Amino acid sequence: MKNKTKYLVTAALPYANNYIHIGHVAGAYLSPDIYVRYRRLKNDDVIFISGSDEHGTAIEMASIIEKVTPQEIIDRYHFSNKKAFEDLGIQFDIFSRTSSEIHHKTAQEFFLNLINKDILIKKSDKQLYSEKEKRFLADRFITGTCPVCGYEEARGDECENCGSNLSPLELINPRSKITGDIPVEKETTHYYFPLGKYQEKLSDWIFSKTDWKPNVINYCKGWFKAGLRDRAITRDLDWGVKVPVEGNDGKVIYVWFEAPIGYISMTKELFIERNDSDKWKEYWCSEDSKLIHFIGKDNIVFHSIVFPAMLMAHGDFNLPYNIPANEFLNIGGEKFSKSRGNGILVKDIVKYFEPDVIRYSIASSFPENKDSEFNWKDLLSRNNNELAAILGNFINRTVVFAKSKFNNVIPGEESINNLDQEILDQFRRSSDSVSAFYDNFRFRDALSETMNAVRSANKYFNDSEPWKLFKNDKERCGAVIHTCLELCHSIAVLISPVLPFTAEKILKILNKDKSDFNWSNIGRRVLKSGTELGETEILFPQIEDSQIEKIISDESESNAVKNGKGSGNLIELDDFRKVNLKIARIINCEKVAKSKKLLKLKLIVGGIEKQIVSGIAEYYTPEDLIGKLIVVVDNLKPAKLMGIDSEGMLLAAKNNGELKIITVEGEISDGAEVN
Ligand code: 2FM
Ligand code: ZN
Repeated sequence: MKNKTKYLVTAALPYANNYIHIGHVAGAYLSPDIYVRYRRLKNDDVIFISGSDEHGTAIEMASIIEKVTPQEIIDRYHFSNKKAFEDLGIQFDIFSRTSSEIHHKTAQEFFLNLINKDILIKKSDKQLYSEKEKRFLADRFITGTCPVCGYEEARGDECENCGSNLSPLELINPRSKITGDIPVEKETTHYYFPLGKYQEKLSDWIFSKTDWKPNVINYCKGWFKAGLRDRAITRDLDWGVKVPVEGNDGKVIYVWFEAPIGYISMTKELFIERNDSDKWKEYWCSEDSKLIHFIGKDNIVFHSIVFPAMLMAHGDFNLPYNIPANEFLNIGGEKFSKSRGNGILVKDIVKYFEPDVIRYSIASSFPENKDSEFNWKDLLSRNNNELAAILGNFINRTVVFAKSKFNNVIPGEESINNLDQEILDQFRRSSDSVSAFYDNFRFRDALSETMNAVRSANKYFNDSEPWKLFKNDKERCGAVIHTCLELCHSIAVLISPVLPFTAEKILKILNKDKSDFNWSNIGRRVLKSGTELGETEILFPQIEDSQIEKIISDESESNAVKNGKGSGNLIELDDFRKVNLKIARIINCEKVAKSKKLLKLKLIVGGIEKQIVSGIAEYYTPEDLIGKLIVVVDNLKPAKLMGIDSEGMLLAAKNNGELKIITVEGEISDGAEVN
């Protein structure tokens, strides 16, 4: 007899060198969470695995820039990101770390397995070496011009601009990312994985996947066309999983070789925690299990080519059943990128909005088939026009009616008729369509079908006109309200993969436990007449324009501050020299009409009069400023703020909500250069 299918769902292991932002969430975390929640409601056997990716040059680089140990870096980001996921209701069965002992052991065993099978090749080759830093410059330690697109800041492992995978030796004009040192070529020995040998097997396997997303298949096609090559899977670095073979001191396993093995080690860890230490094999090694990797498109090659080839070489583990990779969620037309300062961090956004509002807004614009756009106005409109106006409205009007007309008690269902049954049947049919969408990883369609079901509940309420029935036929009115309350329960189940917190609130309002909370009960009657309802609450308070405006202004300020701090955002001296900083004397200053934030300043810079507009009115009055010597960026392109010309920018520092303009003490001429 066939065993019940098991689902092993993984979400890409985020590097513990940065805080996760909503681009990450849209790419690789919210869809698996929705999927796993849906599977659980269907009573499926599912586990959800993720954790921090704590090795590689990304971490070492952050530690060098911040002058702290790699351990401090990974501790900071691991725990913060773990909490951010929790705050957003992303519920992993385990969110572990690749620095754990069990991961090191599992990765080393995997490596040794391939050594023992004579699969890995050891060869000497030239790599880039910095004489100044006395080390090989691997992956992100090196930067240079991309040979494919000409981008001047490509990394040694990848070009962020065109997505090409690179090796340091391919870079044009390579230099050290940390010191700018021009490296030399030096011989070193590494282990290589013979990826080319697996090309045929991999392409047969991938092209047999008729239900995979086209972006994944097309990406692989490109790789196959270019031809797969041997890949170095060790590095000359200190931080990472040590190469478990004698004579390899100072070498670690390449992060992209060991990190996906993290999915295996974290599954092991989960079942050790559950005192069932062999059970992990049922998910990784049994035919009844489906391995599903949720990732963003930048991780496709490693999940659909490199890791599967490693799994083929090892032989004991299942290959992925599906890899529903998402495209990118952009903001203002740009890929989310911390280094460009346009990331909206999860730890910040959860301070402003309820997690379900954030989840809904992201899920509605999941970049499933192409890049999509996030913006705050869209979040506001999703909340006000959909969550509040459709979903919140139905729950609220139903329970408010029951409260005022039926004493807050679920009325009887004696006079139920075909129309009442039809709406419940319609819900059952909707739940089947939603299921089909989830089964095929079509999350946007699942959500819009879900909301259509809620719209039909509102229509049923309107068409049934319970307010009229209450006057003429109270029993019939009771049957309608009873049905509406049943619909509230069905809605709670149906929306819960996307809106888990709201589902809990609806159950509380219905005063109902979780005993009937499963997918098969959608469209079924599970409530008891005569039961008292709980407290009503407004599920989705309106979001005002002013809230959004405040966030946008806070965000741009904090991004400006973050960018200035230079976490990973190093610039060349030449870049700095492009900025003309000069001393300016403020000769006049006035408020800008209709603006709370802006002041218009007249300056003298080197004898020339200039005008700038600056967002400092909340911190200074015009009288505070006249006569002061300040520092300005003198060669900024002119811009208009509220229709007024601004020909520069003054320097100021902000801390704990306080802003202070940089002023100069003593006598110095206006126009003097600052450097
Ligand atoms: O892109 C990233 O953030 C990587 N740390 C993803 C790793 S996924 C896995 F394979 F470990
Ligand atoms: Zn490029």
